[in-house]
Amino acid sequence: MSQPTIGVIGGSGLYEIEGLTDVQEVLLDTPFGAPSDAYITGTLEGVKMVFLPRHGQGHRFLPSEVNYRANIYGMKKLGVERIISVSAVGSMKEEIAPGHMVIPDQFFDRTQGKRASTFFGEGVVGHVQFADPLCADLSEILYQSSLEVGATTHKGGTYICIEGPNFSTRAESNIYRSWGVDVIGMTNIPEARLAREAEICYGTVALATDYDCWHEGHDDVSVEAVIAIIQQNVATARNIIKAAVKRLSQSRSCACGEALKFAVMTHKELIPE
Ligand code: ADE
Repeated sequence: MSQPTIGVIGGSGLYEIEGLTDVQEVLLDTPFGAPSDAYITGTLEGVKMVFLPRHGQGHRFLPSEVNYRANIYGMKKLGVERIISVSAVGSMKEEIAPGHMVIPDQFFDRTQGKRASTFFGEGVVGHVQFADPLCADLSEILYQSSLEVGATTHKGGTYICIEGPNFSTRAESNIYRSWGVDVIGMTNIPEARLAREAEICYGTVALATDYDCWHEGHDDVSVEAVIAIIQQNVATARNIIKAAVKRLSQSRSCACGEALKFAVMTHKELIPE
């Protein structure tokens, strides 16, 4: 069996991975249009990798403008079985301090319907299970890897995904907190939905950069503050990826690879080749 390929989608501040060998740049077109950028393929710690900067090199796409379908389609086409998403987030809990990592286990979708978020439609109807939207096995590996490299990491937590691009109002921030969410970001939905439909495992390394605007003892979130924390912690994120890929050289045994088994409702004879 050929070795599984690991995908990394880099968020704000992570526009490349260091230490890749056999590096190639792969420009792909997809039925959904162009991905955010060229994919960078290579080998890290003996494991085949594919990297894509979510917002494109130079950070050119808003969270609502990212072509998530093309990005995930391209990953699938390049043989990716598991995606590590690296994402900057705001903290919605006192104990998650800026600079800490969170490995979320749930999402709450507060996007506003502007994002194409399924591969289904156009005559093919399907409904994948999404009760547990992040791969538990991959998330456990990310958690263990982050401990191994010395990061302060919170295991589990709910990531609320807002549309952006503006940060939240104070009223929104306080209401989200009352819902019990742990972190807030702008990109993991629909990325995780599409990964599930593509039968790709999805796990997130969320770097807390700020306390949004709810914390009276801290300044309201700003891009300046977010970038400063990312710069201080990007090396840790890279180390987590490196430690994780060493543990990801084996084939997966989770159910993510069978997400479509009972998902499609359209009668077989009506599905175009
Ligand atoms: N990304 C980083 N910090 C954030 C915040 N407070 N809200 C939404 N996305 C973020």
